[in-house]
Amino acid sequence: MYAVQFDFPGGRETLSYREAIEPILGTGEVMIGFEASSINPADVKISSGRIAPRAGTSPFTLGWDLVGIVDKVAPDVDTFRVGDRVIGMSTMASTGRGTWSQLVALPATSLALAPAGIEPTVLAQLPLAGLTALKAVDELGPIPDQAVLVVGAAGAVGSCVVQLLARLGVEVHALVRTHAQGDALASVGPVSAVYTGEAPASSFGAIIDAAGIDAAYALRPGGTYVTCVPGTLPESVGANGAIGVTVIVPESGTNLATLLGYLADGSLNLGEPSVFRLSDIATALMAFENRLGRRTVLTS
Ligand SMILES: NC(=O)c1ccc[n+]([C@@H]2O[C@H](COP(=O)([O-])OP(=O)(O)OC[C@H]3O[C@@H](n4cnc5c(N)ncnc54)[C@H](OP(=O)(O)O)[C@@H]3O)[C@@H](O)[C@H]2O)c1
Repeated sequence: MYAVQFDFPGGRETLSYREAIEPILGTGEVMIGFEASSINPADVKISSGRIAPRAGTSPFTLGWDLVGIVDKVAPDVDTFRVGDRVIGMSTMASTGRGTWSQLVALPATSLALAPAGIEPTVLAQLPLAGLTALKAVDELGPIPDQAVLVVGAAGAVGSCVVQLLARLGVEVHALVRTHAQGDALASVGPVSAVYTGEAPASSFGAIIDAAGIDAAYALRPGGTYVTCVPGTLPESVGANGAIGVTVIVPESGTNLATLLGYLADGSLNLGEPSVFRLSDIATALMAFENRLGRRTVLTS
């Protein structure tokens, strides 16, 4: 079996598609044959050494997202059957289990049945970005009756946050980096205002930051600031009675099923990605670094 692995952190060249040891199927787990995954900033943070996996040993297999076909199930699993197409997310940084592998063993509770009629390469964009966005919106608490600012709204997580807020009827304002990203937001969902560079000061009761920048200047006193990027909660949040929350995304088949429901009812849309073979990881990573709006997806 083959997987994309690295021995030591480094640049793109540190990753190679190589023969690897098959994962062992544990209690409560499902073995999945890889069909598709996507590249996320977390993959680059881990392979470059900015984040060290808290479990596992070198060589590490990278990858968080997964769409694939069930190959085997542990005897205590009755929720999936061999041949089912499933979708899942592996918190690779916590568990050391990467998904860029021809075979992946994941807990059955981290998986949901993939819907028919959506290409695996499109679905592969959903798990990490969608679960993070869902958790970020949950962290706001009751549905806000004031406008919410989404920072990094054109990114993978940000564009899901925009759509999840919009389906709740929340007035969404977006902060993006470039005018082209602002134009692209029109295809994502209803956004009441788009700001490039800076948002209006002290204007929002809640902010969700999916870019990891300091946008606390835009928060009203007593508001809620949710960052999706650990380590970037601005120090000024906490002054004036504001609440600061850092999102840590959990593996959850239940939450994935919720997101799949939103895909089915049309309230959540994923764009068409750029697709590369898992074996051509070097080219895919180059495309990811130069991405212009499109997600970078890996296929078998
Ligand atoms: N906490 C968790 O468990 C968790 C889970 C998933 C993701 N994350 C983190 O969440 C972040 C977003 O992930 P992602 O997959 O959405 O990445 P992404 O697709 O690269 O999105 C980030 C977006 O933020 C934009 N941005 C950067 N600087 C900005 C600025 N100054 N003003 C406005 N927008 C700005 C980027 O624009 P450009 O492309 O032009 O730079 C991009 O559109 C990453 O840091 C990721 O590691 C955390």
